[in-house]
Amino acid sequence: MKTYYDLKGLLNYFVYRWVLRPLIFLWPPEVAHNKLKAFGLWMGSGGFGRWVLRKLFYFEDLSLNTLVDGIHYRNPLGLSAGFDKDGELTDVYPELGFGFAELGSFTGEICPGNPGVGRRLFRMPKSKSILVWYGLNNQGSEKISSRLAGKNFAIPIGINAAKSNLNPEFDLQESMADYLKTLKAFENIGDYFTINISCPNTQDGEPFVNPENLDALLAAISAIRPADKPIYVKLAADLTLDEINIIVDACVKHGMNGVVLTNLAKPEFNQEYVKDELIFHKGAMSGLPLQRICTQVIRHVYRRTRGKLTIIGVGGIFTAEDAYEKITSGANLLEMITGMIYEGPQVMGEINRGLVELLKKDGFESISDAVGSRNPLPPLDT
Ligand SMILES: Cc1cc2nc3c(=O)[nH]c(=O)nc-3n(C[C@H](O)[C@H](O)[C@H](O)COP(=O)(O)O)c2cc1C
Repeated sequence: MKTYYDLKGLLNYFVYRWVLRPLIFLWPPEVAHNKLKAFGLWMGSGGFGRWVLRKLFYFEDLSLNTLVDGIHYRNPLGLSAGFDKDGELTDVYPELGFGFAELGSFTGEICPGNPGVGRRLFRMPKSKSILVWYGLNNQGSEKISSRLAGKNFAIPIGINAAKSNLNPEFDLQESMADYLKTLKAFENIGDYFTINISCPNTQDGEPFVNPENLDALLAAISAIRPADKPIYVKLAADLTLDEINIIVDACVKHGMNGVVLTNLAKPEFNQEYVKDELIFHKGAMSGLPLQRICTQVIRHVYRRTRGKLTIIGVGGIFTAEDAYEKITSGANLLEMITGMIYEGPQVMGEINRGLVELLKKDGFESISDAVGSRNPLPPLDT
């Protein structure tokens, strides 16, 4: 594996890998997450902190600029939903070199998440994964939207909407109203919406994988959607091909702009992790166990939709090669969390630097030229 660091990036890597990460990993993961968030908030709150972050981590190159569904991205690598569940660190992401950030998941109602606060995340370092059992904890769409209203964001912001995880009994009307409440609250905030129908950690499962429920939800969303905002639907990692096809076809039917592929992987359907690291038997895994299956889903959806749906590829991106594989398989944009936690905050710069090199090597002038380039479309039926 080649590295694409310059000297500064290499130094940042060694400091993170051999000094900061061992210290951060002394805290339990949920505690570490909260402390790093508080540090990020402090760094992002003043011009000097943001300047330091920019000097340390920022990278840009014109070949990474891309236009997707009418939105300009300065690079295709975004923060994935789940890192910033209350939308608090939007001043920091541009300086870290992200091209965009997806906030949330936000739910209609205030949602405490699953019980066991402080013990809902588990590191699996040999598997390069995190087992997540959060259950959609967030302050609720009302409070978060009033805090973010009127704020100018330096990069495109995605609003990830999920259904409140408060009730073990599924009720279709109530659940749809919950999603719509978030969409209404964020009508004038952010640049795109993601509808998360794939949280693996909710009490009532994933009821919108059911075609009738999904049809009703997407019809209701289409009826109230703001004209100028793309809407993407986020799929689970462990669906059958038939389930994927039904969801993707429903997205096309209801005029959704694309899909986010994919959410976390449940260990019962995924064997790509080191077995003795699974010490908690609820939740689902991020990172490397997801990498291969996620890229396969991207390849399948790109071919089925012939590139007509936007694809945001997310799952196990640690290097520029991982990112490029997803782009050449059909992803227009990318997101990540776990790679940043294991490799450090300089990794977004390294991935973007590497993408520039990989584009050049293949003779492409821009990211959009490379999308799907190693995933030829099957001939059309005549
Ligand atoms: C700690 C954590 C919390 C997450 N919470 C959410 C969430 O609230 N909503 C969501 O759509 N995805 C959530 N995810 C899934 C990520 O957005 C992403 O799909 C997944 O982690 C794969 O990307 P990665 O391998 O780069 O981490 C979460 C992931 C992690 C690691």
